[in-house]
Amino acid sequence: MKQSTLDKLPDILQKDLDENLCVCNGILKRDIIDAIEAGADTLDAVRNQTYATDGNGCCKRQVQRLVECLTSES
Ligand code: FES
Repeated sequence: MKQSTLDKLPDILQKDLDENLCVCNGILKRDIIDAIEAGADTLDAVRNQTYATDGNGCCKRQVQRLVECLTSES
């Protein structure tokens, strides 16, 4: 993961990269960010590639937030 990718995230979202963001399926935050960086620019795409949000969906808001931050131009 590139530093320039991380720089797009608010400080609070740059933490805990090596902890599960999707606890239901045991998906590291780092892996979700990598998937978005590699082109998964929607919630569905992230789910298809990583299985994040594919449990009971409790991490959807967090994943959506990452997608929004990482795919916004600026
Ligand atoms: S934590 Fe991701 S679906 Fe529950």
